Parts: sequence; C-alpha cells; structure tokens
Amino acid sequence: MRSSTKTITLIPGDGIGPEISEVVRRCISALGVAIDWDIQQAGASVIEKEKSPLPDRVLDSIRNNTIALKGPVETPVGKGFRSINVELRQKLDLYACVRPTKYYEGVRSRISNPQAIDIVVVRENTEDLYAGIEFMESCGVDNPLLDFLKEQKGVELGCDTGISIKPISVKGSERIVTFAFEYARKYKRRKVTAIDKANIMKYTDGLFMNVAAQVSRRYKDIAYEHILVDNMCMQLVQLPEKYDVLVLPNLYGDIISDLVAGLVGGLGVAPGVNMGDKFAVFEATHGSAPDIAGQDKANPTGMLLSAVLMLEHIGESMAARRLEGAVAEVLREGRHVTSDLQREASPYPSVGTSHMGDAIIERINKGK
Ligand code: NAI
Repeated sequence: MRSSTKTITLIPGDGIGPEISEVVRRCISALGVAIDWDIQQAGASVIEKEKSPLPDRVLDSIRNNTIALKGPVETPVGKGFRSINVELRQKLDLYACVRPTKYYEGVRSRISNPQAIDIVVVRENTEDLYAGIEFMESCGVDNPLLDFLKEQKGVELGCDTGISIKPISVKGSERIVTFAFEYARKYKRRKVTAIDKANIMKYTDGLFMNVAAQVSRRYKDIAYEHILVDNMCMQLVQLPEKYDVLVLPNLYGDIISDLVAGLVGGLGVAPGVNMGDKFAVFEATHGSAPDIAGQDKANPTGMLLSAVLMLEHIGESMAARRLEGAVAEVLREGRHVTSDLQREASPYPSVGTSHMGDAIIERINKGK
C-alpha cells in the first residue's frame, strides 16, 4: 500500500545542484515513496531577481513542511551577502549537524580497513568561534576591547591583533550532547565520545566537558568517554573502529567531520543533515562544484545518501534501505560510476551523472 503523500521542500541549489537533485527525485520516484516536492530555488541564481540568495519564501516553505532536501548553494564572495548555510542554521535553529559516515565497498580509501568505520559525527552548529563575534586589528583607532583587556584582565595585546570570541554555553552544550545521546539511543549505537580541548580552554571547552559528563549520567545504557581533540585526530587515523557517536563543539566538529569523511573516500560520498527540534535540512556535504557544473560529471552519491537519511527520518525505513542498497551495489560494481569514483585501472569508462542515476534506478527496480 502506498503511504500518504508528504510534502518536502526541495532546494536544487547552484552549480551541480540541479543535476544531482534530479537524480534523487528520479530515484525516490522509482522507490514509490509518495513525496510532493515543494521546489524552492535559492542561492546565487536568484539574487538578481529577488535581491537575496535566501528569500523568505524558502524559509516559509521549510517552516511549513518541516523537512527540506537541499543541493549545494553558492554564496557570492565580497557582495555583502551572509552565507546561506549559516543563515539557514540560525533562522531555523538547526543546532545539530549530523554526519553518519561509513564505508561503501568500491570507493577508494587510503586506509587499510575502511570497512570497519561506522561513525556518526554530531557537531554543535551555533556557538563557538563560528558565532561571528570578531574584531579587526585596530592600529590607529581606539579599541575599547583592548583597553578593557588591559585594565580589567591585565592582558596587553598589540593593536595589530585580530580577535575572535569563542562563546560556549551550558544551554548550547547540554542540548547538543543530549541530542547525541538521544540519537545513539534511537539508532541503537553503543558509545558517545565527547571531544574538546578542555585542558587548555577551561571556561569554554572545560564547560563543554563538564556538561557532557553530567548529561552522560542520564544515559546508563550508552557508554561514554571524553577525549582531547588532538589525541582524537590520531586515534581516528589509527583506530577508527573504536569510535561510534562523536559529539563536538562547532570548530572541532567541522574539522573532524571532514577528517572522518576523508577516511572513507571523501566528501563526494558523505551525507549529512542539519537539525533542530522542529526542522531538518538534509544535504550532501560537498559544494556546488562550479568547475564541472552543467557537464553531467557530478557524482550524485552524497545527495542520494542524504536522501537515505531523510527517508529514515520520515519513517520510510524500508525505502531508505532499498535506496542505500542500490547505491552500494552500483559503487561496489564500479561499472556505472562518475569519473571521481573510478577505480585505478578500471576496465570501465566513467559515466555521466544521469547514467549513474539510471544504473541505481535499475537496481531499485530489480529489488522490487
Ligand atoms: P566544492 O565541494 O564545490 O568543490 C571542490 C572540488 O570537488 C571541485 O574540484 C569539485 O569539482 C569537486 N566536487 C565537489 N562535489 C563533487 C561531486 N558531487 N562530484 C564530483 N566532483 C565534486 O568546494 P568549493 O570549490 O570550495 O566550493 C564551491 C562553491 O560551493 C562555493 O561557492 C561554496 O561557498 C559552495 N559550498 C556550498 C556548500 C553547501 O551548500 N552545503 C558546502 C561547501 C561549499
């Protein structure tokens, strides 16, 4: 029986976004999942007409539908626009960036046991050094911040110093760590690891560490540990199989999520979602790849695997497993993959984005 139709916002995005979004739409249609796509364009392509890369209609659509699938968008540099991704996170309070990362056979990885990796990175999205509280170097002008630091804290900084402020709150830390534990419980994961640099930044990372330990006591069914971020980088390269759900403040989360993606073959195959308590925006982690846009060369895997997460989120678990299985089969065979996924000395020529989509749809239809 067909499930009832769900309306989901689709933001095709810029560059390669429309090509990979089209593949996702065709695959979901082949799965027979009833989705009514509310298509909302955003990004560089709408600026001229609407004077903003993120018009209100896009936010209204996500608020109405609560879920969105988003292609990569371009934020023009030096034209006075804020990053669309940052604005989406702030306006919809998408405080958690979640990146489940595992290895798919056939994808090139530089490590010897990538198949042992099954890690979910949960990154805090709103605080930390990314809060945008920055002060320029100020030689030749008054700087009350430097005066304050000198007079109240005894810290004398030269006027040629730029300053960024790192806010980390109890509330922000508590909700992200709680999110990580709830995620672990929902998806039957065994361990949560909190990561920071608490030995050096006692009032920010130290606060995060203390809050994480407190929250962990409410979840006796899930193991908990704390690791410093520098050690974690080494551990992830040497013993990635030891780790399960990682929870981190914003900056470390940004870096570690790319490191983990790199272990299993890079951003081209990495899915993700930005979530809050009300809304969820699913998206691949790569950018709009303007160098190959419109050339039928883009690898659709990241966005397809993000759609797998979205299907799981809306309760379409069976369809999620079928889509993931079809993508995994095409990657494993290596016969119908885009050039970035081609294996060394492969006897098969690379194919275009839509051809790879056709091959995935064929596997979906075979499994019916
Ligand atoms: P990028 O990820 O777009 O490209 C980096 C390299 O990876 C390029 O050589 C590109 O061709 C390749 N690449 C990326 N995705 C690919 C795919 N699916 N298939 C095959 N090759 C792929 O990063 P870049 O160049 O730094 O950013 C380009 C634009 O994307 C910028 O305007 C940036 O702001 C935006 N961006 C948007 C994001 C989002 O909306 N979530 C995330 C990252 C960047």
